[in-house]
Order: sequence, then structure tokens, then C-alpha cells
Amino acid sequence: MLHIKSNSFNRIGLVPTMGSLHEGHLGLIIKAIKQNDIVIVTIFINPTQFDDKLDFIKYPKNIDEDLKKIRGFNSNILVYSPNVEDLYNNKIISKKFDFNNLDKIMEGKYRKSHFNGVATIVYKLLSVFKPTNAYFGEKDYQQLIIIKALVLQKKIKTKIISCKTIRNKNGLALSSRNLLLTNKETNLAPIIYKTLKKVKSFKNKMSQNEILVYVKKIFHDQNEFKLEYFKILNEKKLTSVDNLKKEKKLRAFIAVRLGKIRLIDNIKF
Ligand code: PAF
Repeated sequence: MLHIKSNSFNRIGLVPTMGSLHEGHLGLIIKAIKQNDIVIVTIFINPTQFDDKLDFIKYPKNIDEDLKKIRGFNSNILVYSPNVEDLYNNKIISKKFDFNNLDKIMEGKYRKSHFNGVATIVYKLLSVFKPTNAYFGEKDYQQLIIIKALVLQKKIKTKIISCKTIRNKNGLALSSRNLLLTNKETNLAPIIYKTLKKVKSFKNKMSQNEILVYVKKIFHDQNEFKLEYFKILNEKKLTSVDNLKKEKKLRAFIAVRLGKIRLIDNIKF
């Protein structure tokens, strides 16, 4: 689908997605429309970034709805929605990247091949479309940092633009996976963001370890949840910090399992 309204596509904005577009994605598209002459939205559920086959199979798919939402913008938007074979030929495997420790912690620890899969597909899209700007949400903050590292490492000229996490009225960070939560789980899930906000208020009162004990207790007391990790890290390098009071550029990260669904979130700390 291509609505051409201008002859000069000097600036190309790329918005890579896995579809099931929600307000978070639409926010990326709106920013991309403002900053570019043409926007390319890619919709591709990338098999190599799923370490869990069932998660891949169950990932929500809503291409007709997605196209309807994109048409609503009435701007220069091109949608690229390839098949797996278009991007991988017969070999559905990811390339191996070296991001030092960036991809070994948090998501990388719990989802072993995840970031090689993400980087494979993002590298491919950046190489093919050569966008001026590419847009990623802060909800997947570790992904954002790794993509910035990828661009530096591969000397890609695209500017990586980050966009704030969009939340529902109860604070739950928007994610396509939220569609897979039961009603009960949807009502429970806002405790994730509430906990992040609460511990932020402890910054100058508690040590990192005390905060971790507090977070562990919150999720231990809720049978439906299983805490995978909670970390407060330097937000640029994703390295651990000794003293919360001294460090300025901090971010708190959390991953939980709620029933069968894995949810992540983060806030500036
Ligand atoms: O964030 C996502 O939706 C995916 O990880 C991305 C960047 C589209 C790569 O498949």
C-alpha cells in the first residue's frame, strides 16, 4: 500500500513492527510522519527472535486491522509485510553479533537467541531501506540500546529515534502480547508499573538490595506472578551501579510472568 503525495522522498522514516499495532506503534508512526517525507512500516513476526516456539505460534496477528489503522493516517506510508522466505530464503537462522555484555543480561539471559534474531532482521531492514530515521519504543529499552550499538558497529547512517512508552489508563505498558492476557490478568498487570513508580520514590531512602527485596516480596505475595528480574542499571551502558544516590542516568527494568504471558517494563529512575 503506497499513498504518494510528494515527489521528493529525501527523508525516509522506518518503523519496524511485528504487527498487531497498538497506540504505542501508532505513536512511532506519527513521529515518523512528522520527521520524514515517506514512512515505511514493516510488519513481520520474526521467527528467529523467539526462543519459545509456542510464543511465536501464539503471537497475535491482525494484518487487516493493522492496514486499516495505517490507512487512517492518510500520509505517505508504505507497508512492507514480507513472508519468512522473503527475508530468510531457506535458512531460518540468525546471524551472530557481538554486543559485549549488552545482550547477555536481562532479556538476553532469559531469551538466549533473542537479540541475535532482532539484530539480524533490523540490520536487514536498515540495509535494504537505508532510512534516514528509524523508530523504536522505550518499552523494549534493551532492544533500543542494542540497535543503537548495531548501527555504530556496522557504521549505518540511520538515526535511531526512541519514543516514550505508551500506557493504558491503568499504567500498563502497551504491548501486542497484552491481547493474550485474560481479563483477570489484565486487571492485575498494572501492579508492574505501580511497583516501578513506588520503588522510584525509594531512590534516596533505600539501597539497591533493599529495593530488590521489596520488589521480590510484592510479586511473591501475588500468586499469579513470577518475577524474572528486577534491575537498576546505568541507562546508557546497561551496567550495574554501586550507589543509587550518586548516579544520575539510571533506569529500572523488570520482567515478570503473569500466567502464561511474559511482560516487561522499565522507567527512568
Ligand atoms: O520490537 C519489535 O517489534 C521487534 O523486535 C522488531 C524491532 C520489529 C524486530 O523484529
